[in-house]
Amino acid sequence: MDDAGADGRHAGGASGDEEAIDPPEAFRESAAVADPDVYDSFAADWPDAWRAAADLLEWDRYPETVLDDDDPPFYEWFPDGRLNAAANCLDRHLADRRNQLAIRWFGKRGERRSYTYADLHREVNAAAAGLRELGVGEGDVVTIYLPMIPELPVAMLACARIGAPHNVVFAGLSAEALATRIDAADSAYLITCDGYYRREDAFNQKSRADNARIRADADLEATVVVDRLGDALETPLAADEHDYGSLVDAHEGETVEPVARDATDLLFVMYTSGTTGRPKGVEHATGGYLAHVAWTTRNVLDVRPDDTYWCAADIGWITGHSYGVYGPLATGTTTVLYEGSPDYPDRDRVWDLIERNAVSVFYTSPTAIRSFMKWGAEYPAAHDLSSIRLLGTVGESITPKAWRWYREHVGGGDAPVVDTWWQTETGAIALATLPGVTPMKPGKVGPPLPGIDARVVDRDGDPVEPGETGYLAIASPWPGMLRGLREGEERYRREYWVEGEDGWRYRTGDGASVDEDGYVTILGRVDDVINVRAHRFNTAELESVIVAVDGVTEAAVVGDDDGGVVAYVTTRGDVDPDPDLREAIAAEVAGVVAEVARPDRIVFTPELPKTRSGKIMRRLLEDIARGEEFGDVSALRNPEVVGEIESTVRRE
Ligand code: WT7
Repeated sequence: MDDAGADGRHAGGASGDEEAIDPPEAFRESAAVADPDVYDSFAADWPDAWRAAADLLEWDRYPETVLDDDDPPFYEWFPDGRLNAAANCLDRHLADRRNQLAIRWFGKRGERRSYTYADLHREVNAAAAGLRELGVGEGDVVTIYLPMIPELPVAMLACARIGAPHNVVFAGLSAEALATRIDAADSAYLITCDGYYRREDAFNQKSRADNARIRADADLEATVVVDRLGDALETPLAADEHDYGSLVDAHEGETVEPVARDATDLLFVMYTSGTTGRPKGVEHATGGYLAHVAWTTRNVLDVRPDDTYWCAADIGWITGHSYGVYGPLATGTTTVLYEGSPDYPDRDRVWDLIERNAVSVFYTSPTAIRSFMKWGAEYPAAHDLSSIRLLGTVGESITPKAWRWYREHVGGGDAPVVDTWWQTETGAIALATLPGVTPMKPGKVGPPLPGIDARVVDRDGDPVEPGETGYLAIASPWPGMLRGLREGEERYRREYWVEGEDGWRYRTGDGASVDEDGYVTILGRVDDVINVRAHRFNTAELESVIVAVDGVTEAAVVGDDDGGVVAYVTTRGDVDPDPDLREAIAAEVAGVVAEVARPDRIVFTPELPKTRSGKIMRRLLEDIARGEEFGDVSALRNPEVVGEIESTVRRE
């Protein structure tokens, strides 16, 4: 990350939304955390206060040590502890709630499937036995390429049970992306499916997985294929491919002893976009990650076993890992798993599911909330949403307006809305209000959680004054933090850490400001990463795909106000930038990277604005895409193109 990015361009943009809203009294009374001293006691007793998180888990060997920080920035949480993540999500709940629902699944075709904790335990055991039969052993990385079907969390937990780290690849990513991630993770096993439904159509996921296998350097030992579509697609299996259903049936009723893992052992890898075009493999350790996730599920999202909880994020990304699978199941609650889209069969689908399941805690992204707003308040109004007692949001900044809409029309006007900031790398929530303690400020994330030393600092690591723009950094380790990168120690250190006078600090890559009360406002990435509809992509990754389209010479992509992508493109002199080219570019990005990354707008321009040293002024292009004011452009090599680009964008 190049720290030279935060230039104060957003500072002062917040429109005087200083009103703090106290936690509702009714909520406070039963909140997991109601004592404001929690901040002081964590500060006074750091890192030992984090033992409270470890105590939410069941250990095969209870950790004597909370944190080993002898060799920064390689920190080890609960290093002498031993545990199994799947046992923590399943086995330990059996005594008290074997017949309580763990997962309520709603499929795209209106199908429903429910799993009690006992059901889930049984299927995970059978799947774990099946994976062992195929040769998967402790430490073997298993790549999972599945849509939002119950077999996805089952596969993750089966891996965790036998100590095999999983590497889940979002089902919407392309064959190329899958191949890269199989190779980079050094994975010899793949779990995928025949296909899944996109609206009415069956989409062939298996052929995409086959393509990935051809592209990947690795030779896979075995592939397991879930039959999601029944007879809707003909997908014959090769000799090294195994039908998931038959595999599980063959091991039905077997018990696989959960493998006790060191707390520092790898639980999973998750690839995410970094500051270079190649994705990086974020590694999460078993103990610290699960402890932090469990603590925040309980104390930030306030989830209890008797809730019905719904995290709407896809399990293929970190939010779904932490708060769709591990957090809720470690907490012993009932969780909703939804395969479909929010507007199918109608725009009230989400509200219909909340009503029917009496969902009490709902967690989604500002992108989704913006769509709900656009569709209109009549959709939530047509449903009884009185079961809701807490709302969460994550993934990007939420505007005060969207925040209020969410609270008013979904939260009945009085539910706490918790804006949670975190990242793939932090593993779990790091900044947020505590819903029973901390006043909320719409549009501001809030203070760091107790025990998290997040600060807004300048280039030298010194805290900035309230209202000034700086970089969000974390100045001490935290339990859910990544334990490293798949790409090695050097890359890990270089990507994230700076050694300052008072120790090491983690760079989040986000610009931020802080107010007099210590509330942080996130201003967006300061590196080459853009958040697209709450998914994270590297600009170079997208641009390299666009310039590979015949006729394109240069491209610059930026994010817009709606979480979408705008691509500025220049073409070869003899090429007509017509609608066909536009479609070709959009299709290429959707096909090679992911459908979610498909550009919302493609702006053809004769030149891209560049500095005298030839650097594309992406920031300026972003301001234009967002319709914002921008500063003096006279220092550019080609200032004259700016007006031209601006009028093109306005025209469209
Ligand atoms: C980036 C991390 C784990 C969250 C899902 C995305 C942005 C995240 C917020 C928030 C403003 C946010 C940041 C961060 N972000 N939460 N509440 N307010 N921005 O995880 O793909 O690793 O992306 O998402 O820019 O760095 P991710």
